[in-house]
Amino acid sequence: MSNPHDTVFDSLQPHAERLRQLPIARLIADDAARPKDFALRVGPLYASFARQHYDRPTLDALFEIAEAADLMQAVRRLFDGHLVNVTEGRAALHTALRSDLSDIDHVRDASAQARAARARMATMVEELLASGVTDVVSVGIGGSDLGPRLVADALADAVGGPRVRVHFVSNVDGNAVRRTLARLDPANTAAILISKTFGTQETLLNGTVVRDWLQNDSRVYAVSANVQRAADFGIDEHRILPMWDWVGGRYSLWSAVGFPIALAIGMEGFERLLSGAADMDAHVLATPLRDNVAVWHALTAIWNRNAMHAASQAVLPYDERLRLLPNYLQQLVMESLGKSARLDGAVLAGHTVPVWWGGAGTDTQHSFFQALHQGTQIVPADFIGVIRADHAHDSNHAALLANLLAQTEAFANGQASDDPHRAYAGNRPSTLLLLDVLTPESLGALIALYEHSVYLQSVLWGINAFDQFGVELGKQVANKLLPALQGDIDADDPVTRALLSEIRRRS
Ligand code: F6P
Repeated sequence: MSNPHDTVFDSLQPHAERLRQLPIARLIADDAARPKDFALRVGPLYASFARQHYDRPTLDALFEIAEAADLMQAVRRLFDGHLVNVTEGRAALHTALRSDLSDIDHVRDASAQARAARARMATMVEELLASGVTDVVSVGIGGSDLGPRLVADALADAVGGPRVRVHFVSNVDGNAVRRTLARLDPANTAAILISKTFGTQETLLNGTVVRDWLQNDSRVYAVSANVQRAADFGIDEHRILPMWDWVGGRYSLWSAVGFPIALAIGMEGFERLLSGAADMDAHVLATPLRDNVAVWHALTAIWNRNAMHAASQAVLPYDERLRLLPNYLQQLVMESLGKSARLDGAVLAGHTVPVWWGGAGTDTQHSFFQALHQGTQIVPADFIGVIRADHAHDSNHAALLANLLAQTEAFANGQASDDPHRAYAGNRPSTLLLLDVLTPESLGALIALYEHSVYLQSVLWGINAFDQFGVELGKQVANKLLPALQGDIDADDPVTRALLSEIRRRS
């Protein structure tokens, strides 16, 4: 018997067929109200879907799918702390870290715990700032690194310059920690070890190097859901901030995992980030499907993947300060949605997440945009721009925005030529997300939009957005191979054996 989730997108196929004859430029030319009707404003964020390759009848079909999947109810379940992470029997309450939108007791309790942790964090931020520390090394990886790294980098100037300089060390490659420490003086440096599990190899190894280099345990802090392990590592419990199993690592920058953010932009800036995300939460929870920006974004993703068969998705921030957004989104989106089993364990027949990748414009125009304009694969793109600059270089900013608008236009419209080498087929779909200005609030809203879109995509695909069993196998094999790298034991796998012997010969 066929599975409802395998056939749920069948209604889209006739639209995909029909639109093959109707390029994006034609859809725009034939529907004067499209630029306005295919766009939404939510606080500081304007989202235009007018250059996606769908039309009104297609949107009707997409919203019917959203209706049938009861997306609004799914959002309610998330906010109300249902066990949406079914494979691990957990809630995913990142919204409780920043919003107060549920009456359910255990969610209110979660919010209260988050507030208490923030109060402790505020005290630690003050202490550290008053202590004369000028630099902080934040050690963590994945969700314990990418969010704080993105936000601290993006907002350091927007809120009046760094309070302390924050440096991030994630990679187990010793060059990462060596390079970072080489620039610092242990006399005015502190360290934060961030790990939900406090069992992550990279963080424990780098954390040990940094702790030994500091030679001052009173300046080592931790953030973890496993306080005992952090204490066993030698960190004083007074300097350990909690997190909880009801927050997924890649959704955790709003918790004490954001400690480095608060150090870089101040506690007030951190609270403003949370309030921007809370505004997006309120919008997503309360706004009907047709006016809900996260629903539009998620349906667009499903359309491009399951009806138009796009195998990859680009994310192209036109703002140097958002250059780390693609890295951050790679984990958020691909670790959440890179699944091939449904919630009930059945294997999915269709495709889930495409490959997400990207980089900041305009640099990327001079690297991979050639392939986006004329390559044989169509890559849908999210362009992100900021309307008002925070610098005095007006001509640069005008050029930046001109390039941003030009690219979205050129992708959609293309340009005919008798010379195939000089022809642009166009018909490349894109979404444009415009922030009024880059503030903690607008960045909080943007990130929260992506979080909600990811969750909604998972509901539409019938998969769990909150586990990540796919990353475990590699860790297990690496643990098994570590003794072989450090001694003479051999590996079971013949190819690994040959590689080990080559490594030993050349070491
Ligand atoms: O890469 C797998 C993963 O478990 C991520 O989901 C997580 O964000 C990262 O490792 C770091 O984990 P931890 O915070 O427990 O050190």
